[in-house]
Amino acid sequence: MIKKLSEKKIVVCVWFKRIVTFYIFAIKNSLIMTVKERRTIRKYLKNEIPSYLLNDLLETSFRASTMGGMQLYSVVVTQEAEMKKKLSPAHFNQPMVNDAPVVLTFCADFRRFSLWCSQRNAQPGYDNFMSFMNAAMDTLLVAQTFCTLAEDAGLGICYLGTTTYNPQMIIDALKLPQLVFPVTTVTVGYPAEIPAQPDRLPFESLIHKEHYNDYSSSEIERIYAFKESLDENRKFVVDNGKETLAQVFTDVRYTQKDNEYMSGNLMQVLKKQGFMS
Ligand SMILES: Cc1cc2nc3c(=O)[nH]c(=O)nc-3n(C[C@H](O)[C@H](O)[C@H](O)COP(=O)(O)O)c2cc1C
Repeated sequence: MIKKLSEKKIVVCVWFKRIVTFYIFAIKNSLIMTVKERRTIRKYLKNEIPSYLLNDLLETSFRASTMGGMQLYSVVVTQEAEMKKKLSPAHFNQPMVNDAPVVLTFCADFRRFSLWCSQRNAQPGYDNFMSFMNAAMDTLLVAQTFCTLAEDAGLGICYLGTTTYNPQMIIDALKLPQLVFPVTTVTVGYPAEIPAQPDRLPFESLIHKEHYNDYSSSEIERIYAFKESLDENRKFVVDNGKETLAQVFTDVRYTQKDNEYMSGNLMQVLKKQGFMS
């Protein structure tokens, strides 16, 4: 009798383990599939995102790794049409800002932590560029964790790089105080489109074993060949009156002049927000 019972238990244990392993595999696999299949979504349905879902995604993203457990970020949630209208010019009126049900501004935030230090007889020393970098890293980890979770929950997202092009406009619109700085913005909503998935460079070209292996010119030729061969990129070159795809980047999309202007502006605003002492 005793022997029979323990055999039964073993069978139950084996099956229990199999089922758990299967579910872990399925869950893990579904997240991997979500990431493999993802693409940026710029058009959204009118449907609101339920607040329980939005809050759960945000709260879960706050589980991301954080420097010293300090959680050096804040997220401003914009849902009101009036506030979206205020933010829109800062993002060069990209339609996603007004059209998405939710706009999230992820901010590097050393203010909350510094206030706590001051209230606890501790002298905060976080009004410097290093501290901004640390807070910015924390902030981006949370933003990307949120995006992955949101996509896994069936939502679509779009990052807006314009946040760091026009930080002062965003600071004014969102009333960000000293030691708080907008690092990135994400528009979120239920997808109203399934655009083609953009290409990526070959896997091997992004991996360096043990140490960095600099690229030869023939490797550069090979790495960018597929991207250059795509019809949409060939059209891009012709439409912009350029000779090469690289020229579309250097002369039209991300020019030295713009980058230098925006670098200066970024430094100025960082100083104004108290991060460059
Ligand atoms: C830092 C950053 C800034 C971005 N800024 C914008 C933006 O201002 N507008 C936009 O439409 N897409 C923006 N994107 C989305 C990229 O264009 C998109 O990720 C890229 O084309 C690759 O496409 P995929 O995400 O569908 O793979 C941004 C992405 C990142 C990571």
